[in-house]
Amino acid sequence: MNELSVDHLLGIKSLKLDDFKLIFETANKFKEVINRPIKKVPSLRDITIANLFFENSTRTKLSFELAEKRLSADILNFSATGSSVNKGETLEDTVNNILSMKVDIIVIRHPNSGAAYFLSKKVKSKIINAGDGTHEHPTQALLDCFSLNEKIGNLKGKNIAIVGDILHSRVALSNIYALNTLGAKVMVCGPMSLIPKHIESLGVIVEKNLVKALRWCDAVNMLRVQSERMDLNYFTTTREYSQLYRLDVNKLKLIDKEVTILHPGPINRGVEISSEVADSKNAIILDQVENGVAVRMAVIYLLASKFKNNLTK
Ligand code: CP
Repeated sequence: MNELSVDHLLGIKSLKLDDFKLIFETANKFKEVINRPIKKVPSLRDITIANLFFENSTRTKLSFELAEKRLSADILNFSATGSSVNKGETLEDTVNNILSMKVDIIVIRHPNSGAAYFLSKKVKSKIINAGDGTHEHPTQALLDCFSLNEKIGNLKGKNIAIVGDILHSRVALSNIYALNTLGAKVMVCGPMSLIPKHIESLGVIVEKNLVKALRWCDAVNMLRVQSERMDLNYFTTTREYSQLYRLDVNKLKLIDKEVTILHPGPINRGVEISSEVADSKNAIILDQVENGVAVRMAVIYLLASKFKNNLTK
């Protein structure tokens, strides 16, 4: 297969195993490129990309922008803060105005679940979901799995635990879909108030004891408590949460093995992970960020290639 099965990247749920293989093979090639003295390729000189960020971001926004620059695309950057969204403009009107400037691909982060899907039905550009509410964050899951592959090899049959605020996490949902497709076994761990009801229907194991989860897994993805999405109290105090669910040296000492540690960022040091563990040799947090650029280059390149092929058919 040399073409993605999808026209947009709205979520991991719609990707097939062959799509993962193609994205990872392409990302490996781009990883070589970005480690050369000249880190750019001219592939997308004829493509214009708009990065529309309606919600805060550090890693994803910078990573997409750098990936696009490395591919030589023209870029428009839009942040809702300071824009006419604050004067009441709708998402559709904002995007149509940007599209009048002849944009081929839109990268969108939005606080509302479904925003990327909604846009894909309204406009002709290709859409890449950079995180929509509590729904999906597909490029994060792709870079997580790519980084895991590098560190622990083929994920088929590997045990991967996802720990923390599963209920509000688009990273958790995208990772569950991705890891299932790649043949890994997935466990979610956290206080029951932060585990969605019926999540077993997605083929995951539920565990509320972090040490038991650590004994089971080959790698653990630690998630931030997403206080900004909470309108209720889901646990008594942050101190109590940290005592039970912070990944720290004391808990790691209770297991008799090494575990690879991921975190999508931003980290709340001391809450879900101690600084000592976040900065330890088994943590691949900065590798995830590095790989994010190559993986996003691959996604943009493959979607743009499909779009260009369709134009010439
Ligand atoms: N992992 C992630 O999405 O980080 P940002 O919110 O900083 O983009």
